[in-house]
Order: sequence, then structure tokens, then C-alpha cells
Amino acid sequence: MKLLESLNWRYATKRMTGEALEPAEVANIIEAARLAPTSAGLQPIHIYVISDPAIKQQIQPIAFGQPQIVESSHLLVFTSWDKITDERIDKVHEDMNNLRNLPMETTAHTVTNLKQLFSTFSEEEQYHHTAKQAHIALGVAIAAAAELGVDATPMEGFDKAALDEFLKLRENGLRSVVLLALGKRQITEDWLYPLKKYRQAKEDFITEL
Ligand SMILES: Cc1cc2nc3c(=O)[nH]c(=O)nc-3n(C[C@H](O)[C@H](O)[C@H](O)COP(=O)(O)O)c2cc1C
Repeated sequence: MKLLESLNWRYATKRMTGEALEPAEVANIIEAARLAPTSAGLQPIHIYVISDPAIKQQIQPIAFGQPQIVESSHLLVFTSWDKITDERIDKVHEDMNNLRNLPMETTAHTVTNLKQLFSTFSEEEQYHHTAKQAHIALGVAIAAAAELGVDATPMEGFDKAALDEFLKLRENGLRSVVLLALGKRQITEDWLYPLKKYRQAKEDFITEL
């Protein structure tokens, strides 16, 4: 029940106070994202954690001037692999098998199948697949933030190519996916704060069979 109360409390905060969050709160939210499930466990995600006001200032125009960028305590930039290469699949399985003290043969069949599967994807489809994994982590981070009473605004309203360029993501084999502004709500300035949460009716949301 606590989780549902937290999810009802949270909203896509439009204005924040600029107050700094406790480092432990930010760390907790990031850890929740790290623990999110991913397809085939490949974890093709990397998060940039931006607290430097000067960097946030430079990102704000890339995000169409949205105030949460500079009013947040921390801006998380969820990025994902630009492509799913054989080397990346091998690396994940090497690390995982080493951690578990398992021989590489344990997952050799899975590795072959994954390489075969992703070789049929275009580069854009590969990014689409990795970006979906980032969105799962985003959802987990949003829930974790709500549980802590931290405001978190997911933001896709930004120029992805420009942010990739600004953070030099493509050089690092990454592309931006979505932002998460973390901070404290500024209720006197925020037009969304007093409005009721709008969701589809439960009967429209599911089909029971
Ligand atoms: C992927 C994604 C992208 C979003 N992009 C933005 C954005 O750029 N700016 C913004 O203010 N809100 C953004 N939102 C917030 C949604 O508009 C908001 O979550 C939705 O209207 C439901 O309202 P609530 O979150 O307040 O319950 C985004 C939400 C998601 C999930």
C-alpha cells in the first residue's frame, strides 16, 4: 500500500526549489535504477549524474528551456548503448560468469543466440531495444524517488542529437534516451501541483480474461 500512496503523491513536477538533495537519497534512486531488470540481463544502460549548475545551465536550452533542468538538485541523463555488438555481449557474459564462478561454457549457447538475434536488428533497432531498457530503469528510479519523498520529473522533451553532441555520448558508444530531474517541488510556482492526477479508468486499463 505504501508504494501506491507514494505513486499517488508523485507527479511530473514542473518547478523545483533548487534545494540540494541528500547524497544518500540520490544514491538510493540510482541504485534502484541499477537493480532494474533488463532484457537478457545485458544492462545496456549508463547514467550521467549532473549536479554542476554550469552544466545544467548549458543543457537547459537543449531541453527547450524547461525550468526543472536548472531547478533540480540532480539531473540524471539515462543513456543506452548505440549498438549491441558481439564484444559487448561477450563482456557481459564474461563478467557475469566470473562473478558467479562459472565456466564460460555455461552461457555459450545463450551468447550465440543473442549474437544471432541482434545481428538481424538494424543499428536503429538495436538502439531502440537498449533505450527500452533505459525506460524500465527510469520507471524503477521514479518509484524509488517517490518512496523517498523526492520529486522526479521524467523528461523526453529535449533534442537528443544535441545532448549526444554536448555530452560526447556517441564517442563513448552511447546515445541519450531520457532525463530525470530530481529535486523538491516548488508548489507556489507549479501550475500542475494543484491539479488532480489524471489516469484512465481502471476498467479501460485492463481486460480480464
Ligand atoms: C518518457 C516521458 C517523457 C516525459 N517528458 C516530459 C518533459 O519533457 N517535460 C515534462 O514536464 N514532463 C514530461 N513527462 C511527464 C508526463 O507528462 C507526465 O508523467 C504525465 O503527464 C502524467 O502525469 P504525472 O506524472 O504528473 O502523474 C514525461 C513523462 C515520461 C514518462
